Amino acid sequence: MVRTFRKRTPSICATLDSMKILVFGATGMLGKALISRWNEDQVLGLGSAQADIRNPEQIEKVVSEAAPDWIVLSAAYTDVDGCELNPTLASNVNTQGAVNVAKAAAQVHSRLLFVSTDYVFDGNNTTPYEITDPRTPISAYGKSKADAERRISEILPDSCMVRTSWLFGPGGKCFPDTILKLAGARPQLEVVNDQRGCPTYTADLADAIVRLCQSDARGIVHATNRGDCTWYEFACEILRQAGLNTVVRPTTSDKFVRPAPRPKYSVLAPRSLTAYGIEMRAWQQTLAEYLRLRAAAG
Ligand SMILES: NC(=O)c1ccc[n+]([C@@H]2O[C@H](COP(=O)([O-])OP(=O)(O)OC[C@H]3O[C@@H](n4cnc5c(N)ncnc54)[C@H](OP(=O)(O)O)[C@@H]3O)[C@@H](O)[C@H]2O)c1
Repeated sequence: MVRTFRKRTPSICATLDSMKILVFGATGMLGKALISRWNEDQVLGLGSAQADIRNPEQIEKVVSEAAPDWIVLSAAYTDVDGCELNPTLASNVNTQGAVNVAKAAAQVHSRLLFVSTDYVFDGNNTTPYEITDPRTPISAYGKSKADAERRISEILPDSCMVRTSWLFGPGGKCFPDTILKLAGARPQLEVVNDQRGCPTYTADLADAIVRLCQSDARGIVHATNRGDCTWYEFACEILRQAGLNTVVRPTTSDKFVRPAPRPKYSVLAPRSLTAYGIEMRAWQQTLAEYLRLRAAAG
């Protein structure tokens, strides 16, 4: 986690051209990738201990002192089942917290990039969701993020909202880690085969976010790695790439009842991202990179 503005590029030109970036949620899985990959600008990253987005006075102070060109709001209460059990906390962090950040950004004329989710959709589509599709969340988490999108766009009409899905990467709780851990403990796994989405590597998403800010992006953008799969197909590919023979059996969501419902289909159409000239890699390729990194780290 980085607490002071840090500029890696030493030339005078870079000093004149580089932007000041403030990242909320820098201690999270995506936040860590943002901090480690954002090379060309001055980046300040904060976790909840330094700035609780539920506290408007604290956020206003931090934002006015930093006076950033861009704020990236990656901070969120991301436990989907936890949100379902405690919707007030979900709303306080994910909606009101986002409103607090947007208001503080408006006061100092900072641009805001809000990281949002495929869970703003109900999953009834059978073709990829476009940015023009209506928000139809089916969980408290999805509702809290959809409400945040609406409120932010009222406060800051030129904000950028980046919806992503199924994140994996170092420094957080992610699906490949869970599958590899379970494969080490059980001869056979059952994984749901009736939810389809786009796995997304945090490093690739971080690179896309950097480019979006540098491109002065606005409006809703769908940013995921290319290709889609079910969780079952994702698990099979993880084990195949890891060289493990653990048997995986497909199952259905009704066998794994959890507090929050999940969309059956949440594939996001990429054209809003490619409009900025940004193409993301196939998820299988990024999985291979993540597994290599993981193996090297021991
Ligand atoms: N994970 C996914 O599969 C996924 C999918 C789609 C969209 N997203 C979105 O992507 C973003 C990043 O997700 P992630 O998986 O990287 O999240 P994460 O690993 O769960 O990290 C959450 C971050 O939010 C911070 N945070 C939580 N409550 C806060 C509060 N009250 N005030 C300030 N900061 C607070 C945490 O800070 P501390 O650790 O310091 O408490 C942490 O830095 C989120 O906006 C999420 O909604 C995630």
